[in-house]
Amino acid sequence: MHDYFIGLMSGTSLDGADGVLVDFSVNPLQVVAHASEPFTAGFRAELLALNTPSHNELHRAALAGNQLAAAYARVVASLVQQAEKLGIGASRIQAVGAHGQTVRHQPRRTSGDPWGAGYTLQLNQPALLAELTGMNVVADFRSRDVAAGGQGAPLVPAFHQGAFSRPDAGVAVLNLGGISNLSVLPPTGSLAAVLGFDCGPGNALMDAWCLQHTGRPFDAGGAWAKSGRLIPALLARLLDEPYFAQPIPKSTGRDLFSLAWLAGKIQPFDGERAEDIQNTLTELTVCACAESVNSYGKGSAELIVCGGGAFNLYLLERLQAALPWLHVSTSEQHGLPPLQVEAAAFAWLARQMLRRQPGSLPAVTGAAGPRVLGALYPA
Ligand SMILES: Nc1ncnc2c1ncn2[C@@H]1O[C@H](COP(=O)(O)OP(=O)(O)O)[C@@H](O)[C@H]1O
Ligand SMILES: [Mg+2]
Repeated sequence: MHDYFIGLMSGTSLDGADGVLVDFSVNPLQVVAHASEPFTAGFRAELLALNTPSHNELHRAALAGNQLAAAYARVVASLVQQAEKLGIGASRIQAVGAHGQTVRHQPRRTSGDPWGAGYTLQLNQPALLAELTGMNVVADFRSRDVAAGGQGAPLVPAFHQGAFSRPDAGVAVLNLGGISNLSVLPPTGSLAAVLGFDCGPGNALMDAWCLQHTGRPFDAGGAWAKSGRLIPALLARLLDEPYFAQPIPKSTGRDLFSLAWLAGKIQPFDGERAEDIQNTLTELTVCACAESVNSYGKGSAELIVCGGGAFNLYLLERLQAALPWLHVSTSEQHGLPPLQVEAAAFAWLARQMLRRQPGSLPAVTGAAGPRVLGALYPA
């Protein structure tokens, strides 16, 4: 009996929406189809603007949610078209897991709040997506974990464990999206807990600097960074951010690692060459990730990199140099292309929700307990 789910992910890089159709009836799971839609420069700019307080943002956020749902629906339509060519009718797809677009992530408990809870906000319009696709849609995966006192992130470690753990050795999985997050997986069958947390910036700051100085949305292959030189004093200033030394559980977002944060740090280095700053921003991501592995993933034999940052060859080179005692690979070498991993995780989370099974790991998020994540918008 096949077990088909769609997962849709659009992360903090704001590059676009990635979708996969996954068959969970086989082990390892099989990605049957994948599709993606890049966001237009205008939509990207609007989503970025919605990350900070601005005029009439409730109205604009609602419209952005509608626009996102329309983009998600086009990705679903492409997946369905591919599936039909393989003889898989749309009615056999059990649900769509749609992450939404994070615009605020402040899970910390705030004093003065009567419930003591923070919040995390993903723009989305799952009702519209259910209308446009005619499918069950599961959305809003993070807020239940935050309500239970957790970080609401990362949610992918349980999926990473199923997809990437090995019987013979511990493995760490590094997702390089706009923000970077690490999963530390004990050997399959071990009773040790899976760990997971956000390391800090992934691509977000590098992308912003690259766009500003070259007009290109990202530094392809890291070639531009590679052409520059490290500015040690700037790296030290960037690494001075207290988040890096904060103990786990922890998660972050553009709320902290914003363009304003970057501008403040870079300001004294105004006269430096742009490529040297790009090199230093790349090294910041490398240091944040390598330090995370050193602190929590020392028992890992391998570091599997996924997310679009896996295409940054210079970054991978630097990561391997910083972590000479383990083998750096990409998820592609383990059967899951880098841009499909997170989307597949949200297909899995939708499946967990339909089965009323928890999707979160309290050891990762710090929540009071495991919770069934997401809300169902029936077809
Ligand atoms: N060829 C490439 N070289 C370097 N970086 C790349 C390349 N392709 C994609 N990326 C990076 O990956 C990002 C998208 O990764 P993704 O995993 O979708 O992140 P998110 O989950 O935050 O959306 C892009 O914004 C870019 O920074
Ligand atoms: Mg993306």
